[in-house]
Amino acid sequence: MPPTHLTPAKPDAVVPVEAVTPLMRGITVLHRLTEAGGTSSLSGLEKATGLARSTVDRIAATLARMGYLRLDGRDAVLAPRLMELGNAYLAALRLPRLLDTRADALADELDESVSLAVADRDGIRFIHQATRRRAMSLSFRIGDLLPAERTAPGPLFATEWTPEDWARWRDRRSADPRDRGFPAVPPREHPTGHFAEQPLEHLTGGEEFEERTREAGARGWALDDQLIEPGLVAVSVPVREPGGRVACVVSVVSHTSRHTADSLRDTMLPRLRSTVRAMERDLRTERDLREAPTQPPAASTGPTGPAGLAGLSGLATWTGASKQELGREFIESLARGLTVITAFGEGRAELTLTEVATATGLARATARRALITLEHLGHVTAHGRTFTLTPRVLALGFPPLSRTTLPQIAAPHLADLAGRLHDSASLAVLAGDEIQYTARVATSRIMSVNITVGTRLPAYATSLGRVMMAGLPPAERGPFLTGRHALTPHTVTDPAALAAILDHVRQAGYALVDGELEEGLRSIAVPVRDRTGRVVAAVNVAMHSSRRTVEQCAAEVLPELSATAGLIEADLRVAGRFTRVRVA
Ligand code: PHB
Repeated sequence: MPPTHLTPAKPDAVVPVEAVTPLMRGITVLHRLTEAGGTSSLSGLEKATGLARSTVDRIAATLARMGYLRLDGRDAVLAPRLMELGNAYLAALRLPRLLDTRADALADELDESVSLAVADRDGIRFIHQATRRRAMSLSFRIGDLLPAERTAPGPLFATEWTPEDWARWRDRRSADPRDRGFPAVPPREHPTGHFAEQPLEHLTGGEEFEERTREAGARGWALDDQLIEPGLVAVSVPVREPGGRVACVVSVVSHTSRHTADSLRDTMLPRLRSTVRAMERDLRTERDLREAPTQPPAASTGPTGPAGLAGLSGLATWTGASKQELGREFIESLARGLTVITAFGEGRAELTLTEVATATGLARATARRALITLEHLGHVTAHGRTFTLTPRVLALGFPPLSRTTLPQIAAPHLADLAGRLHDSASLAVLAGDEIQYTARVATSRIMSVNITVGTRLPAYATSLGRVMMAGLPPAERGPFLTGRHALTPHTVTDPAALAAILDHVRQAGYALVDGELEEGLRSIAVPVRDRTGRVVAAVNVAMHSSRRTVEQCAAEVLPELSATAGLIEADLRVAGRFTRVRVA
């Protein structure tokens, strides 16, 4: 059985003659990398996709040029920028933006994980996770696909299935009895342990799933009693659109060490239902606002555009230049086809061919062939003259990338910087009145202490600490400024002098510290801001003072360092749009 991602939207559909082969192959590579957890050797990709090595190389070079993956020796590694494809789907869907705050609040209130899922053909796909990290059970990621019959949301979605949907589901069950097409879930095994006492029917679905669907329809809720793995229990309620159709399903997920499925239902269902009622009110309000005649038409924020493309309309120029530079290694039709996905977004959920062509600057014929290809692969659905993205777009890298941390985002950029300057580069966060290193690329040892990830140093005497302190509201800086002691003869410890330095740092946008932490050590740092403008971390370059004068530091290092911070911030903006990126 081929994995589900290779199955076209209609399993028996022949490849349309207009389909763009390089786009299909590029998407296959992205699916394989996603299933592999975000990293694979190029030879591993060659084996997994059955494509020629030269084809894999060209696809990887094209995706690397787009900023969608990184080539790390022989490995291809998915890059945060790729999340802009999933972001386009989630923004067009609107549901995460409208409902995630309530889902997060419910998770806090119940101290259990809460998720939002949508239907994806005969599976369910997560669009939000408010996860309580617990040792006992696996937790799913945004974009993970689960077989409907092994979940609590599944029967709630199945209440709306047509006979064709049921037939497709039965075909899938018999073609893939062990769920190998769902890499996010443990495969169904021969019944052992907990499952040994269950009738086999419990494991294989069949009539049991139809019965659960009937019950779910009658009751308005559904349970998952360890259908995915022993210990995992969930209770789910559908969130209905104003028109009555199921928009998404909210689940509370727990473990049998805390709840049986029945006790989970008894304790959680009332509060889950009241959250769902509030969510449905939110959806009605939003619809009313959208449809209010006095409102101007929803302002389009426009597509965000791929890596450094200077907006989508610059696409033709960008792909042309890339072709010039990379020659045969750059596959224009792959780059253009993927860019079509980014034409969709908030207020741009349904687009006509003309709108897609206008937004991307592609010729109509090119946009049309890309849409036909994406529709064939199940990433786009056509409704008469308009097209929408499907949840399957999240299978293009979102699950592994949704767990990316700031240190992981920063690491390749720090390595580039350190490589160019031949000096050490680091990322740190504030921890109390200290800084804590969270990523570091060292070129030589310049300090008496060996700095590694996790090392803490006093904030007031470091460039990293000073840019982060300067990012705090002045009222919060106080505790950092008093009771400081000199670490070298040059350390500034006077509270008023430190306060003045922070004001200057805030204005200048960088901090340069010369011999205040350790004699002979010179370092320069700039802040890293999240999408709201808040300083969440800082990056620096540190060197022995004999390497550059203070003036050379400002003239030569600062522009490079600022550019690096800008690249980290750009990745953080993409990664943080629908997920909470951990800073450490
Ligand atoms: C989850 O959010 O992890 C989840 C939700 C429903 C299930 C299983 C897992 O049935």
